[in-house]
Amino acid sequence: METSIGNIPRHVAIIMDGNGRWAEEHGKERIFGHMNGVESVRNAVRASVRNGVRYLTLYAFSTENWGRPVQEVEALMELLCKSIVNEGRELCEQGVRVEILGDRSRMSEKVQEHLSLIERETSAGDRLTLILALNYSSRWEITRMAQRIAREAAEGKIAPEEIDQQTVAGHMATAAWPDPDLLIRTSGERRLSNFLLWQLAYTELYFTDIYWPDFTEAEFDKAIRSYQSRERRYGLTTKQRREK
Ligand code: IPE
Ligand code: IPE
Ligand code: MG
Repeated sequence: METSIGNIPRHVAIIMDGNGRWAEEHGKERIFGHMNGVESVRNAVRASVRNGVRYLTLYAFSTENWGRPVQEVEALMELLCKSIVNEGRELCEQGVRVEILGDRSRMSEKVQEHLSLIERETSAGDRLTLILALNYSSRWEITRMAQRIAREAAEGKIAPEEIDQQTVAGHMATAAWPDPDLLIRTSGERRLSNFLLWQLAYTELYFTDIYWPDFTEAEFDKAIRSYQSRERRYGLTTKQRREK
């Protein structure tokens, strides 16, 4: 497709939103929207691989989502396990490696086993790292980061005045990955919903009214083109950026 080759975001993060409303508009139960959202995940993965994106982070389940009706939570967990079993082979064929972001200790044993399975099965993937944010929230992560650094300080491993931005980033659950270059949120909502608050400091934001189950490869390419039209200044002037 016709996205230009230059200036591809290395890391794209997506808040996949609007499954419930999509289902409602089709006169169906919310879970029907989640089921149709799986095809959109495939679209996002394929488009990422095709465009040469190296990291794709998908917000799949927030810590706040535990508050939803039990049947919906259970159906989501079931869908996650089913998708892991069904998608493993295609992910491997595409060179995708799956990694998990979030506190998996609260997930059921069955879900934890499936997560380990997909990590193992795809560990050789070297084209795209697909990061699934599950039972994730940014405030959970930031709190955990503070606890970890405080523990190291208390143990005398680090002096408080040595703590800098790298220390903080290095104690986040995302330490192994670069910050997102582009954030996409579907469904018309314009908020971050507790997602990657530290990491999105200089990320380009892209909002679309499309509901997640309607998200196609062409929609992904549209977001990439929007990204390519932007100037990331990082606090400097345009002239300074050009001279770099
Ligand atoms: C996103 O769609 C999927 C999850 C949060 C798991 P929603 O389920 O939030 O759909 P809406 O926002 O209610 O339409
Ligand atoms: C954000 O969507 C979480 C995920 C996409 C997993 P929500 O639908 O839960 O967010 P709010 O409640 O609209 O902020
Ligand atoms: Mg929602």
